[in-house]
Order: sequence, then structure tokens, then C-alpha cells
Amino acid sequence: MSSTTIDVNLGGASQSKDRSYKIAIERGLLNDLGARMLTVGPLNKRCALITNPTVGALYRKAAVASLEDAGFLPLVIEIPDGEEYKNLTEIEKVYDRLLEERLERGSAIIALGGGVVGDMAGFVAATYLRGVPYFQVPTTLLAQVDSSVGGKTGVNHRLGKNLIGAFYQPLGVYIDPELLKTLEAREVRAGLAEVVKYGIIWEGSFFEMLEESGTSLGDISTGKVIELIEHSCRIKAEVVAKDERESGVRAILNLGHTFGHAIEALTNYSKYKHGEAVAIGMVMAGKFAVKLGICDAQVPERIEKLLEAIGLETHVDGLEPKEFLAAMKLDKKVKGGTLRFVLPKAIGEVSLCDISDGDTLNFLTDI
Ligand SMILES: NC(=O)c1ccc[n+]([C@@H]2O[C@H](COP(=O)([O-])OP(=O)(O)OC[C@H]3O[C@@H](n4cnc5c(N)ncnc54)[C@H](O)[C@@H]3O)[C@@H](O)[C@H]2O)c1
Repeated sequence: MSSTTIDVNLGGASQSKDRSYKIAIERGLLNDLGARMLTVGPLNKRCALITNPTVGALYRKAAVASLEDAGFLPLVIEIPDGEEYKNLTEIEKVYDRLLEERLERGSAIIALGGGVVGDMAGFVAATYLRGVPYFQVPTTLLAQVDSSVGGKTGVNHRLGKNLIGAFYQPLGVYIDPELLKTLEAREVRAGLAEVVKYGIIWEGSFFEMLEESGTSLGDISTGKVIELIEHSCRIKAEVVAKDERESGVRAILNLGHTFGHAIEALTNYSKYKHGEAVAIGMVMAGKFAVKLGICDAQVPERIEKLLEAIGLETHVDGLEPKEFLAAMKLDKKVKGGTLRFVLPKAIGEVSLCDISDGDTLNFLTDI
């Protein structure tokens, strides 16, 4: 059984606490979850497994059995399934359960689910009793290639996405690609959008490899998916290690997200999955870069072609430019009132650009 470990190296000598951890990738790893957690350090027997009813019905039994085999006494907490529940109201209900059950500081939280569960469970871990240990067990492709790594946790506010949150690193990320077998094809495609992102922001040769695979990328039954997860996690780990709290280079991971978050918000988080909105956002970023003279037209063309081969939408219709701009200005990437975009210079290289509202509005009107 092939097994891969990737180090996320964080916190140097000057830091008070080393926050480094490992990402383990292995088929069937869920059955080994409890034993893996024991290797990380002393933890209370009592722990909380946070999941949702969809993932819980599929994998809660195996996760609980693995935790119990390792001597843990897991409390299972389910939060409703969906981005619309990624809010403080639901977080409070989780705090209630943890407090009622008297979980202590040494009790670990385990996030078993996609990015929504991961972001929420991570935020609970960051804030419950001022911070308890936690582990990510991502179950969607998007979570396995992106959201489970890097310690961004949080929830949405009615005024925008992920506006409330904390940087808080897990003690380990345990990726079991086998869990993707039950994932809907649409969710697989959404996750692939973030994989494509890594090629654009970091490694042109990875993008070319994705271009060569094209339509077959969505077939998660092949070994290819493990390669994609590994490659994506390595890039994310490298970027996060350089800039844990997004004061510089980490911002490039937001390619397509300023447009994407606005698209999600303007369509009430119901029409597009996060990855789908990011796909449209990456094409928009490419076209914006062409308009500003930052890259040539071939760049967005290649991005669009690859995303279309995967089966993702690359355009959004019917959004009013002024409303679009207003939604983007609620994004965390706004600096001193000016929007900061990640724009491609070439495939494999991006830059951060502060753009005036006037230029942005012109672009949104023309596109
Ligand atoms: N923290 C970060 O760095 C970061 C990065 C990217 C995205 N995100 C966040 O991640 C979220 C999106 O995550 P997502 O795309 O995983 O969506 P999601 O968590 O909503 O999961 C998608 C759907 O798949 C179901 N599901 C999960 N695993 C399954 C499995 N193995 N089999 C069958 N069904 C399964 C879920 O119940 C859900 O219905 C957004 O809220 C986004 O903001 C966070």
C-alpha cells in the first residue's frame, strides 16, 4: 500500500511553539486514524469527532471504531450539511455540546468532512477553551488538496464569506483517497479547480501535466488522483511554510477567489460550489490580466480550455457589475479600500496587483 508523508514546516527557532505537522496520504488510512493520532503526542482519551449527517452516515462508524481501538472515547457531533450552515449560530451549538460533555483542554477535535466541516471544526478547536488540539480528516477532493492544509479556519458572515476566523494549525492531516469513491462527480470537478490553481500559481509543468490528462482527471478510481493530491499538498505546504499567516506570498493561493467569493455571495451560496466559483474566477482573473497588459491572451485561453475539459463552467451571466464590485469589496483581500487581485503573468507565475475600482468596474462591464 503506497503511503506518502508531506511535512508542513512552520515556526522557526524564534517562535514560541513549533506548529509543524505532517500530512499523511494513504488508501484505507481512516481505519488507522486513532493509532496515527497517538503518535502525535499525549491527548485526552475523550475527544470530539465533528462531521455532518452525509459524511457521518458513510464514515462515522469506521472513524469511531478506529478511535476506540486506540483507546479514545469519541463524542460525535454532527453539524448540518451545507455552506449555509457555516456560521456562528452552528458553532455555538457545537460549543454547547463540548461544554455540556465537559471536554477539556487536552481533548482533541477531529474534523471528518469536506471544507465546510474542516473550517468549522478548526475554528471550534481554535476558540474552545482558547484552543484545543485538532486533526483534519478531509473527505472531499477540495478538502484533500486544499482546505485541510494551512490552518485557515472560520465561518461566513451574512456580509461575506469566511470573514470570521482564525489561523490555527492542525496537529496532523490524514488523507484517505478511498473516501472519494462516494463523492459526487460534481464535487470531484469542484476540487479539481483548486488543483488547476496550483499549476497556474506555482508550477507550469504541473499545469501541462493536467492539460495532457484533460477529461480523464475526474476519474478518481485511478492512481492518478493520489498523484494530484500529493502534488497539490506539496505545493500548498511549501507556500504555507513560506508565509503562514498570509502576509506575503500565501496570498497567491487566492487566485480566482476575489471573483469567486463574490460570485458565491451574489448567488446566495446556492448556485455554485466553492470550487466552481473559483474556476470561473480564475478565468476572469486571466482575462483581467490580459486587459491590464499583464499577460497574453493565450493564458486565459489555456485555463479556460483545461477547466472546460474537466467539465467546469467558465462564465457567469447576469451579474450586475456594480453589485459585483460591491461584493468583491467585502473580501478580506481589500487593502486600504483598494482591491488586491492575484493575476497570472504566465502559466506558473502570478503577481499581486492593487487595482482601482474604476478599472475593475470597466472590466466587469466589458466582459
Ligand atoms: N481553509 C481553507 O484554506 C479553505 C480553502 C478552500 C476552501 N475552503 C472552504 O471549503 C468549503 C468548501 O469545501 P468542500 O468543497 O469540501 O464542500 P463541502 O464541505 O460542503 O462538501 C461538499 C459536499 O460533499 C459531501 N461529502 C463530503 N465528503 C464526502 C464523501 N467522501 N462522500 C460523499 N459525500 C461527501 C458533503 O457532505 C457536502 O454535501 C468552503 O466553505 C470554502 O470556503 C477553505
